[in-house]
Parts: sequence; structure tokens; C-alpha cells
Amino acid sequence: MKKIIPQRCAVIENRRLDKAGWYYRLRLSGFVPSRAVYPGHFVHLKVAPGLDPFFRRAFSVSDFDAATGALEIIYKVAGRGTALLREVRPGTMLDLIGPLGNRFTVPPKSQTAVIVAGGVGLPPLAFLARYLIDRRHDPKTVFFFYGGRSKEDLIDLPRLRRMGANLILCTDDGSRGFKGMVTEAVIHHLSQFDDRRFHVYGCGPEPMLAALQELALVRQWSGEMSLEAPMPCGVGVCLGCIKPSLSAPGSYVRVCHDGPVFKIGEVQL
Ligand SMILES: Cc1cc2nc3c(=O)[nH]c(=O)nc-3n(C[C@H](O)[C@H](O)[C@H](O)COP(=O)(O)OP(=O)(O)OC[C@H]3O[C@@H](n4cnc5c(N)ncnc54)[C@H](O)[C@@H]3O)c2cc1C
Ligand code: FES
Repeated sequence: MKKIIPQRCAVIENRRLDKAGWYYRLRLSGFVPSRAVYPGHFVHLKVAPGLDPFFRRAFSVSDFDAATGALEIIYKVAGRGTALLREVRPGTMLDLIGPLGNRFTVPPKSQTAVIVAGGVGLPPLAFLARYLIDRRHDPKTVFFFYGGRSKEDLIDLPRLRRMGANLILCTDDGSRGFKGMVTEAVIHHLSQFDDRRFHVYGCGPEPMLAALQELALVRQWSGEMSLEAPMPCGVGVCLGCIKPSLSAPGSYVRVCHDGPVFKIGEVQL
């Protein structure tokens, strides 16, 4: 196995993204990756100095600038780990490992990218959309569905709008955009494009991913999704992150090592 070397990076920004203070953007400088960083990769971060909390937390890379080493993650305050991270001030040195895991693939230009983000599933998909558009994918052939419970859960919208993709917002309570679940918005908006060949990308809560996987399997769309699991080691050793395989019944995948990006139909959700 490749040697995993932690490194310390300075926090340059830890900024609240919503009024209520649930979502934050953390930017670190001077990250020297052990290999090129691509959408789908994650980092394993110590959210506070010392041994408490003991386990690192996994965060998808939401952007990376190879020229400056500026690495960005977006997180939602969900429990103790992220509550501690929220308190970190610029100038603090944080310890991280990465990039870890595999990456999203790039669809051929003949395929239409259908990106489906639910809640805090946004970060790796925002990176992916920028990556595709920077690599001359016509923004009009990128559909970006972004759903949350209500409008307060939809963050970083100016940045998403600047990309120029077809951005379709939706909320469970109808406070912004399409009223309903994000997978319902996908069905509603794409029904007019029956002949197109779609390649779907998903990240979000597991029930959303299960619904998206089912939809893609029925419609015979290719695609891939980024999964989450508790990750004690992050490098394939402890088996703390396993999920049952769908394509090879009776066996398991390690989300950290075999993923976190899996093909549609690969993992049982
Ligand atoms: C590949 C991947 C990418 C992710 N990307 C993002 C992202 O971009 N943004 C985001 O907000 N969240 C992301 N997450 C989720 C994130 O890692 C945290 O699990 C989540 O933020 C939980 O918040 P917390 O640490 O505050 O919760 P806590 O309440 O502190 O922890 C949740 C529970 O999990 C346990 N736990 C926490 N970490 C570990 C660990 N490493 N091993 C074993 N048990 C553990 C804790 O003991 C506790 O019981 C990602 C997870 C994965 C696997
Ligand atoms: S987190 Fe240890 S094997 Fe995946």
C-alpha cells in the first residue's frame, strides 16, 4: 500500500454560507497533494488538535487550485466533529490526509451530464460541474439538479449560477424552485428529452441515492454516485465503511478504498 503522509495546512477561510449557520466553506492553503486532485476525491481531516475527537472526518473536495495549493471543502454542522470545525479560526494549522478515494469519470461529449445533488451532497458535484465546464463541456449539456428540504438548505447559488449550467433548484416544501424531491424534478424536467443519452452523477442522503439508482436502472441511464459511510481509517484497512455489493451479491465494497464513487448498480442502497 502507498505510504499515507499527513500534512498540515493553514486555514485561510472558515466562512458561514447560510443565515442559520449550518453550512460553512473551509479553505486551506499550501496543500501539496500526493497525486492530482479530481472531483470525487476526499480528504481525511483532523477537525481539532490533539486526540479528541480521535477519528478524522472525511470531506469531499469541493474545489482545488493546483497552482496555489488552495483546497476547499464545504461542510454542514451535523455533530460534534463539525461543531468543533466551525470554531476553527484563520491561521490555525489543520492536519489532513489526501486526496483519498477514486474519482468521477468524464462523460463523452455526446452524453449529457445530469448532476443530482441533495443537501450536503453538493460539494463534490460543484467541483465536478466546474471541472466539466472548464474542460469545454458545453454548459448547456450539463443539467445540475440541486435539492434541499427548504430554501435555507440551498447554498452557494451565485457560484453555481456563474457556471452557466442548466441549474434546476427544488425544495421539499416548495419554498424555492420545483416543489418535491430532487428525483421527481429529474423525471419532470428530463421527460421532454427522451432521446438524449444521459449520464447521471449523484451525491446526497442515501434514500435519495437509492431512488436515483432505481430511476437510472429503469431508464437504462449510465452513471455514478458518491457514497458516505463512517470512515475510521479512510484507506481500506479497518472495514468500518463496508456496504453490500449489488453487482456481486454476497460480497462487500469498502467505500473509502473502492469508492467513494461507484457505478449505478454496483452497491446495494
Ligand atoms: C467520502 C465522504 C465524503 C464526505 N463529504 C462531506 C462533505 O463534503 N461535507 C460534509 O458536511 N460532510 C461530508 N461527509 C460526512 C462527514 O465525514 C461527517 O461524517 C459528518 O459531517 C458528520 O458530522 P460530525 O463529524 O460533526 O458528526 P459527529 O456526531 O461528530 O460524528 C458522527 C458519528 O460518527 C462517528 N464518527 C465520526 N467520524 C468517524 C470516523 N472517522 N470513523 C468512525 N466513526 C466516526 C462519531 O463517533 C459519531 O458517533 C463525508 C463523508 C464521507 C465518507
Ligand atoms: S474506513 Fe477503514 S476500510 Fe474504509
